Amino acid sequence: MSIASRVKPMTPPLILRTLLPPYRVLRRVFLQVRTRLRCRRFLSYPEPRRIELGPGMISPPTGWLTIDLMPSATFYWDLRRRLPLPESSVAEIYSSHVLEHFPLPELRQLVNECVRVLAPGGIFNLSVPNGGMYVRSYTDASLRAELFGYIKSPPDCELGTPMDVVNHIAHMSGEHRFLFDEANVVALLRICGLPNARIREFDPSRDVEVRRHESLYAIATKPFLTDN
Ligand SMILES: C[S@@+](CC[C@H](N)C(=O)[O-])C[C@H]1O[C@@H](n2cnc3c(N)ncnc32)[C@H](O)[C@@H]1O
Repeated sequence: MSIASRVKPMTPPLILRTLLPPYRVLRRVFLQVRTRLRCRRFLSYPEPRRIELGPGMISPPTGWLTIDLMPSATFYWDLRRRLPLPESSVAEIYSSHVLEHFPLPELRQLVNECVRVLAPGGIFNLSVPNGGMYVRSYTDASLRAELFGYIKSPPDCELGTPMDVVNHIAHMSGEHRFLFDEANVVALLRICGLPNARIREFDPSRDVEVRRHESLYAIATKPFLTDN
């Protein structure tokens, strides 16, 4: 008999197995009701209204509200769903290292939703991993060494080959679904109704310094109906 077959799988005690599923359902319902109530309150706030998508553990500047699948977010919400906000209700949307978590169809749907909730003249400001730079590192050993130096827990980097760093950013242990470069981030924003989308520089007043080496930045404003 092998050792593996003698080791009993760990099962949680009966009380936990009984209570956990209803607890999870109740918690989800609570968070969803709280989100709906907060959305209503959000609309009574004085303008400008600003939201950050997927801040994770990073606190946004004062006055910004957040949407994330974390209970600490103002709006506990799955970004693959229609955003819980009315059309043209938001002055600015910021997002850092979130868009790469969605495959292209969901990504387009999310950006379309951002455009819907932005008011005309509203700003969509974002940062994503610079996939193009990681791809370039495949043939550039010094860039590869530099990028590798930043990777703290390298589950995709154990083979010691030039493709490791590319795999790291492309997959991030299964969390990433899309690779960006300057051309496709601008193309995505333009195809979703933001024709003036452009690459921008790092903004120390808003962007996260620890992500600077791996990021590219873009910005766009929602056109007014009269804009060409
Ligand atoms: C890599 S973290 C980025 C955190 C922070 N913005 C930063 O720059 O370090 C990605 C964030 O997106 C959120 N996220 C990923 N998929 C999501 C989804 N479907 N709905 C809502 N939030 C999601 C995660 O919970 C996480 O907070």
